Amino acid sequence: MLEQGGYSLKWYFLLAISAGFLLHSVVSQIPLDSKISVQDNNFWVSPNGEFAFGFFNLSDQPNQYSIGIRFNSKSIPVDKQIVVWVVGADLVVGSESYFLLANNGELVLHDSLKGVVWTSKTSLLSVASAALGDNGNLVLLNAKKDIVWNSFDIPTDTLLPGQNLSILQTLRAASKNSMSSYYTLFMNASGQLQLRWESHVIYWTSNSPSISNLTAFFSSDGALQLRDQKWRPVWSVFGEDHNDSIRYRFLRLDVDGNLRLYSWVDASQSWRSVWQAVENQCKVFATCGQHGICLFTASATTDCRCPFGLINGSISSCSIPFQQRCRTMVKYEHTFLYGMYPPTDNSVSQISLLQCKRLCENDPLCRAVTFTNDGTGSCLLKKTQYVSGYMDPSLRSVSFVKKCSDPLAVDLSLVKSPPPPQSLLLVKGGSHKFCVPCLIGAVSGTFAIFIVVHVVIALYIFKIRNCRRKNAALAYKGPNSNGLIVLPFSELKELTQNFEHQIGPTMFQGILPNDQPVAVKDLKATIEERRYRVAVSKIGSISHKNLVKLVGYCCELHHRFLIYEYVKNGSVEKHMEDPKLCKRLTWGKRVDICLNVARAVSYLHSGCREFVNHGNLKCGNVVLDENLDAKVTEFGLERVISETSCSDSSAERDVEDFGKMILTIFSGCKELGEELCEWAYKEWMEGHAMNVLDRRIHCGVDSEEMERIMRIAFWCLQTDGRRRPSMREVVKVLEGKLSVDPPPPPFACQKSLEQEE
Ligand SMILES: *[C@@H]1O[C@H](CO)[C@@H](O)[C@H](O)[C@H]1NC(C)=O
Ligand SMILES: *[C@@H]1O[C@H](CO)[C@@H](O)[C@H](O)[C@H]1NC(C)=O
Ligand SMILES: *[C@@H]1O[C@H](CO)[C@@H](O)[C@H](O)[C@H]1NC(C)=O
Ligand SMILES: *[C@@H]1O[C@H](CO)[C@@H](O)[C@H](O)[C@H]1NC(C)=O
Ligand SMILES: *[C@@H]1O[C@H](CO)[C@@H](O)[C@H](O)[C@H]1NC(C)=O
Repeated sequence: MLEQGGYSLKWYFLLAISAGFLLHSVVSQIPLDSKISVQDNNFWVSPNGEFAFGFFNLSDQPNQYSIGIRFNSKSIPVDKQIVVWVVGADLVVGSESYFLLANNGELVLHDSLKGVVWTSKTSLLSVASAALGDNGNLVLLNAKKDIVWNSFDIPTDTLLPGQNLSILQTLRAASKNSMSSYYTLFMNASGQLQLRWESHVIYWTSNSPSISNLTAFFSSDGALQLRDQKWRPVWSVFGEDHNDSIRYRFLRLDVDGNLRLYSWVDASQSWRSVWQAVENQCKVFATCGQHGICLFTASATTDCRCPFGLINGSISSCSIPFQQRCRTMVKYEHTFLYGMYPPTDNSVSQISLLQCKRLCENDPLCRAVTFTNDGTGSCLLKKTQYVSGYMDPSLRSVSFVKKCSDPLAVDLSLVKSPPPPQSLLLVKGGSHKFCVPCLIGAVSGTFAIFIVVHVVIALYIFKIRNCRRKNAALAYKGPNSNGLIVLPFSELKELTQNFEHQIGPTMFQGILPNDQPVAVKDLKATIEERRYRVAVSKIGSISHKNLVKLVGYCCELHHRFLIYEYVKNGSVEKHMEDPKLCKRLTWGKRVDICLNVARAVSYLHSGCREFVNHGNLKCGNVVLDENLDAKVTEFGLERVISETSCSDSSAERDVEDFGKMILTIFSGCKELGEELCEWAYKEWMEGHAMNVLDRRIHCGVDSEEMERIMRIAFWCLQTDGRRRPSMREVVKVLEGKLSVDPPPPPFACQKSLEQEE
């Protein structure tokens, strides 16, 4: 079982080096300014000697270290000394890294290349010392020996005996394969423990009484319990060796998405799983990836199959070969199928097996159907190509899959089928013509913009004239308390030389009296003054190296201008359009740009005191500084201009815009319409991602990086906002720290794929 868990421990590596040295320091109190490093290979050890905190190498790559707590008992062989907590969950650092309990009371992980990558953020808590407890809890103590921070509060994938999991905490499986890091254990508001894949698929729940304010507790006698506020157990599960005298236990959300309780067995010198949440591993969501069928064999191990035939293509392999005109229903006994995307199937109950089969047969969109003879006569229709399932001789379910009678024709159909009419040019024309629709789009788009610009300019001139007539007197507002300068309109006019140098739509270059170059944005909107000032000072307080700083504003009568720091090299859009500038956008540069933009937006979403959405993310709003580092500008304006409050859907929209931006940056196409997205997806799916690439990128393309980027882009573009990743996850994927699955088609693409059939 433990091998399935996937931790290949490399303690050997470090211990082998340290053989002969006495480097373990048994300390009950770790004073400030204590340091451990990869090179010194020292550890902090609990007083009873059973836990150690130090660097280790979990991955197969050399020079990749994590730091955390592991079992250290002499009665457990080194390769079985399981890691129970990892700093920063999946942080990996280089061989010159060190970990410090700094003088200011913070625990700091320092990487030789990246600098500080993690801190405990405890500098304000008067930390006086640290200690690694006999229970495996790393704690920070103040002078009165009160615990002010402890590692038990931020669990990774494991609970130790005595450890709690409260409603705000989750266990997340280690990211060891493309699926695992999407598995989490958490407790919902009504006190149900749940295992979940991504954010929406719940595949196991504790079915405990619905009570709020519960705490999950892993007891030292080997039980997982939910306890109420008076600490009475209201729900428990026991390992099979519950109450036996077992020296070491732990509970872990394994890489395969199952939650297991492990005990140390002295006799066999091994860890044994004594309970697991999902009895049949096939019922753990996505056990066989997104399309495979899980076969539960008599030996209680799982086996993944593609019973519907393989389709050659990175993503569609294993999916149901489907053509609307095909009507043959192929029967699979003992097989339960479920739609993965979307996760809900159309359900009809109290009908017969034959009726169920007919229902699918006669529904042109139905691809497969599962009938379960459990007394309810339940019939589940699947209208999505993303179908998974399991097979087990004991299952009383029968499934039918719609196929063509000629299996060969079917298998090749998806690969060879003609492209949808809109994208005919894209595919048939080969790589040389793939931008024709972009050109058409650009031409018609330009014409539309031309008209709009003229109307806007006309309106603006009209407005200015109007205003001048009405108000001659200007009201000067003094410097602002939060460091933003506030300029009257007359001065703004002066410093932009009467808005002479336009550098973008409604954006002008100017120079402040102190010679600082600035970019002045005319919001061209009527915004109530007080609301405007509040919103602007919020934006002004945001500072991140990949965000263009707001330095001031103008709010006078109906003039609403924002003054930004001037970023020298102009927008990414400008670079993409200019054949000469475009040469600077090498493969590596484009990857950097995406990553920096992702970091900036992730910061807006979760790094500020308050959630801020960008609202208008696109290549025109990403500018390059003198080192060609990307900075995002014009963030948060939606909130300034319209009164809409921000919500989750605003974050989802930014993610979608980001997905479009990635495709734009890498394809070099200007306007990313639906067809383009569809075409890109198709090319990628059929293994021709290179066709999508801007031909002006001559070399340096890293195909692995490319695959990752395309995958995350299509995830960002999912029509169902709940399926889109968070920007934090996007950053991790782009940094290569989180793996990403092949995405299902963004809905628009899927729709036309279906029409085509
Ligand atoms: C777990 O929660 C209980 C009740 O809140 C508390 O008394 C106990 O100290 C907690 N255990 C740990 C290790 O924090
Ligand atoms: C918690 O989960 C249970 C079972 O899935 C569900 O019935 C309940 O509505 C959930 N409670 C909340 C607050 O989401
Ligand atoms: C749960 O805890 C919250 C905050 O501690 C409290 O306001 C609420 O009344 C509690 N609910 C119950 C049912 O005890
Ligand atoms: C576990 O052992 C304790 C004492 O060792 C005993 O009081 C308790 O009843 C036992 N519980 C179970 C479920 O056997
Ligand atoms: C199918 O995929 C395999 C391996 O990826 C490859 O070798 C083979 O050429 C492909 N066949 C077709 C028809 O594309």
